[in-house]
Amino acid sequence: MPPETLTIRRPDDWHVHLRDGDMLRAVVPYTARQFARAIVMPNLSPPVIDTAAADAYRKRIVAALPESADFTPLMTCYLTDISDPADLARGFKESVFTAAKLYPANATTNSAHGVTDIARIRNVLDRMADLGMVLCVHGEVTDPEVDVFDREAVFIDRVLAPLLRELPELKVAFEHVTTEQAVQFVESSGSNVAATITPQHLHLNRNAMLVGGIRPHAYCLPVAKREKHRQALRKAATSGSPKFFLGTDSAPHTREAKESACGCAGIFNAPFALESYLTVFEAEGALDKFAGFASEHGPRFYGLPLNEGTVTLVREPSEVPSEIGGVVPFHAGEMLDWKLA
Ligand code: DOR
Ligand code: ZN
Repeated sequence: MPPETLTIRRPDDWHVHLRDGDMLRAVVPYTARQFARAIVMPNLSPPVIDTAAADAYRKRIVAALPESADFTPLMTCYLTDISDPADLARGFKESVFTAAKLYPANATTNSAHGVTDIARIRNVLDRMADLGMVLCVHGEVTDPEVDVFDREAVFIDRVLAPLLRELPELKVAFEHVTTEQAVQFVESSGSNVAATITPQHLHLNRNAMLVGGIRPHAYCLPVAKREKHRQALRKAATSGSPKFFLGTDSAPHTREAKESACGCAGIFNAPFALESYLTVFEAEGALDKFAGFASEHGPRFYGLPLNEGTVTLVREPSEVPSEIGGVVPFHAGEMLDWKLA
């Protein structure tokens, strides 16, 4: 008999976009309901590039939380060509920053101020390696010659592998991995290299985005790849390996911004993230691996305590609304088999 409930230690989301202003107020309750902590992406406009900006943003997030929420935002620093290692180190030591984020310039939403050449931030990366501070990586090259479906694999060869040969002790969270090459790279690297996996990349291949009509709500970056890659991700996520853990990359954009001639990249999956992941673990016969992926591997990698307390998922249908606050959520209009109690 399949179990009717699953109780796990409270989980965390190791990659989320909470935005700012009205959008922040609209979306943060969903993340705070599902997760105890989350690594908050700094790609606001303007981006969160120093300790003062991160401290101010953290306060805006806390102010936007529902009164009953028990949620801790973990802040990241958006690296630029001129990031100051001293400010970064201070922010880390004062626990304002948990990690720093590498966006290759122009790789994705609000990344125009990102890093144009990794060699330019070598002083910052040296400092981070000394501090044991995690580098969160958006792993795609931006070379216009490189096909969008190849950008992650080429990033490994051109940027990430050389970086780790030079700084073998740097802690790297390879974020939202989408390819079998990324899975293999992480598996064959040391324990200082891990990866997050989103629910959408476990559910969708590129056909799901492009066959029978173009589906803007299935579009995010890195873009979903071929089925063999999705299978590699499902295997990695459900393997029990401590190198793979939960990071939703929930990235809300309004319906109008997505359903457009030039639609924005990003999938808003926060409202039913745990339910979405759990359907994958169940289909893979790996319910016993879910707690590790959702609640243990992430904090161990980051060197943070595991959460106290538990959450329970119940085998009951969750009906995903077609729209939430002007945003179309992941799985809109579908039924999921589990419900967060
Ligand atoms: O799809 C994405 N959306 N990928 C990113 O890297 C950024 C994110 C966003 O901020 O909308
Ligand atoms: Zn992201």
